[in-house]
Amino acid sequence: MENISELVKKVINEESIISASFSGIRNKASKTFNKVTIKKVIIKNEEKYQFEYFYDKNVEHKNLNNNETIEEMTKLLETYFKQALINTIKSDYHVLINKKGKLNINQKKPTKKFEEASHNRKKKYILNEGELTPFLIELGIMTKEGKIVNSKYDKFKQINRYLELVSDCIPYLDKNKTIRIIDFGCGKAYLTFALYDYLVLKMGYNVEIVGLDLKENVIEFCSNLAKKLSFDDLRFEQGDIKGFNQFSNVDMVISLHACNTATDEALAKAVNWGSKVILAVPCCQHEFLKKIKNQKMNPMMKFGIIKEKLASLLTDSVRANVLEIMGYRTQVLEFVDMEHTPKNIMIRAFFEDTQNIQKVVNEYKEFKNQWQISPYIEEAFGESLTNKLD
Ligand SMILES: C[S@@+](CC[C@H](N)C(=O)[O-])C[C@H]1O[C@@H](n2cnc3c(N)ncnc32)[C@H](O)[C@@H]1O
Repeated sequence: MENISELVKKVINEESIISASFSGIRNKASKTFNKVTIKKVIIKNEEKYQFEYFYDKNVEHKNLNNNETIEEMTKLLETYFKQALINTIKSDYHVLINKKGKLNINQKKPTKKFEEASHNRKKKYILNEGELTPFLIELGIMTKEGKIVNSKYDKFKQINRYLELVSDCIPYLDKNKTIRIIDFGCGKAYLTFALYDYLVLKMGYNVEIVGLDLKENVIEFCSNLAKKLSFDDLRFEQGDIKGFNQFSNVDMVISLHACNTATDEALAKAVNWGSKVILAVPCCQHEFLKKIKNQKMNPMMKFGIIKEKLASLLTDSVRANVLEIMGYRTQVLEFVDMEHTPKNIMIRAFFEDTQNIQKVVNEYKEFKNQWQISPYIEEAFGESLTNKLD
């Protein structure tokens, strides 16, 4: 085998690649992500390769078909990484590329099987089809026989993805005390019930969970269901996030798809109550759409849909940076695939009392000037934020 392109075609077309990982950036000046991994996945009965790109603060996914995978792997090896470990059903390849692009391949016996990979994938889910789960049955997602209802499959996937994101928060939740959690804008509370099921029934935590929503009928439905399921430490209340002042401290605040600036209100409460963990998936953000001005960006902003997307990305960037300023280690992650909902950005933040924030503060101020915006989030946070910006 002489070159990278031949190697890549061989592992994809002839040997059926199971997984791969790329590391060691060749040219640090052109660094974007730090590492990339690939695994074979089956999506809607089609074989795809799932690429995971690890950046400093977040991870992105792409599912590619055969030809796209060949192209992407070749690009990564030819221009970006110094080494790769590629597992196929026939061999393991340890690939090294020197500064001049010379290839060195060390081929060994295979250590992975695809069955093994798919088994692992299955085990990764927290909720599984076939395992009777009362709250899923009550919410009409699972049948009494344990099958996922066809039309609810996306919801089931979303719940599992959510629980996966919650499971990373476990190290921040003290098992020796009652964990207080509030879910702002809980709606029909699929995810609130899932959270309770996971933390209490699966992980053995003591909790006090409150789901808050504006809608009276939704609160009545959820309260009845919590009673029916004997989820005794879960309660639902009707009310507006802004006016909710029952607590002065919480361990975790969740706000998923709460509309427009309701997310800012939720973040403000969370931070001002010293929440250790925050999970927020913003929704329908109109705040900046009419306000942003930046002449240099006119080629983007003159197109309505692009401007709308840009405005919501700016809002999320402001929120994520504000959380950093408030001492949180903040990540922006993909919540569910684009094909399921366009509202797919999750802001996940862990309180680490970061002190070294001057750089973020300066960048944040500069960013606001550039776009000529005064974000509502500053009003929602009040002095706790404005003091840090002075
Ligand atoms: C799209 S639903 C999302 C429900 C749930 N969090 C989920 O992701 O499945 C948004 C919910 O937020 C509620 N909501 C919006 N603004 C709110 C506010 N200011 N205070 C309380 N609830 C609010 C709405 O009533 C609605 O039920």
